[in-house]
Amino acid sequence: MRLYFKTALCTLVVIISYIGYQQKFWQDGSLPLDEEQSGLNEQIVIHFSHVVAEDTPKGQAAVKFAELLEEKTDGRIRVVIYPNGMLFNDDSEFDALKNNDVQMIAPTFSKVTKLLPTWQVLDLPFLFENEEDIERILTGPYGEQLLNQLNSFDVRGLGFWHNGFKQMLSTGKPLQKTEDFVGLKIRAMPSNVLQMQFKLLHATPLATSFDEIYEELEKKEIDAQENTISNIYSKGFYKLQKNLTITNHGILGYAVMINEDFFNSLPTNLQNDLIEVMDEVAEWNFEHSKQMNEDNLSRLRDFSGIHIETLSSADKEKWQKVFEPIYTYYEQEINATYLQEIKQLLNK
Ligand code: LMR
Repeated sequence: MRLYFKTALCTLVVIISYIGYQQKFWQDGSLPLDEEQSGLNEQIVIHFSHVVAEDTPKGQAAVKFAELLEEKTDGRIRVVIYPNGMLFNDDSEFDALKNNDVQMIAPTFSKVTKLLPTWQVLDLPFLFENEEDIERILTGPYGEQLLNQLNSFDVRGLGFWHNGFKQMLSTGKPLQKTEDFVGLKIRAMPSNVLQMQFKLLHATPLATSFDEIYEELEKKEIDAQENTISNIYSKGFYKLQKNLTITNHGILGYAVMINEDFFNSLPTNLQNDLIEVMDEVAEWNFEHSKQMNEDNLSRLRDFSGIHIETLSSADKEKWQKVFEPIYTYYEQEINATYLQEIKQLLNK
């Protein structure tokens, strides 16, 4: 009788194992893919962290991305946005993305240059002259070649968004002449090219994290900073630094990234939806970012407490002369080919 039970049990185990093998239950720990299967239709949530205010080119593009993706996927994907560095700041967001603590981030490309030094090409002073060129470079093959470099970090670059041209904001006196910078402490993002600009102007660059600028301004630890009008306006920096010089000396834009494993875990149709929505939002962002900065500038002009002037062409030439060694640095120590390619694309 015991032998009979043992044999029956063994036969049952063999049958169950065979069915399991046929159905691939034990492969990759996942169920066979079948869109109709209950459970797979559950909502997928993307946590998207960024450091700026909602009413900015990046903040608005993130909102648009969430709306359009939810609509396109009939609610299969929901994007929850965490603005203002409420979850992660400049120093922690890339690791959070790699660990899948959040699934998407959009850091300024200058902040990625420690990992990818070639990206400093986008920080070169006075390289870009208009928004059309910026869009052409960032959304074309050149931008794609930069984004592909993220693959070695298990991160997928989805595309670039744009904020605007950077201006100079200062506490003490307006910044116009190259001599005005001597001895100042200037906040600039952690990119060698950006830091070099201010060293060449005999100032001290500080790589303060974006979420700490306001506090450092209150403590009078920063004399000046370079930033876009939308960031200056939305974060209220103009309340503490009342001299704005319109210089357009550099650009500030974002690399939108998604955790690679998370992306690969999505069914193919949702991956395609996400890519299509990303392209649509990038187009929308390039169309609207200039206007957002212009609107914020006119609000600043209405605010009587701020002094606004424009960098004169004569002084611009002097700044360019001072910045020449930065191009030599990029060419000799970073990547001559990237520089040559972008100059050709910009007819320089
Ligand atoms: C900054 O740190 O000034 C910017 O990168 C902030 C941002 O994300 O626009």
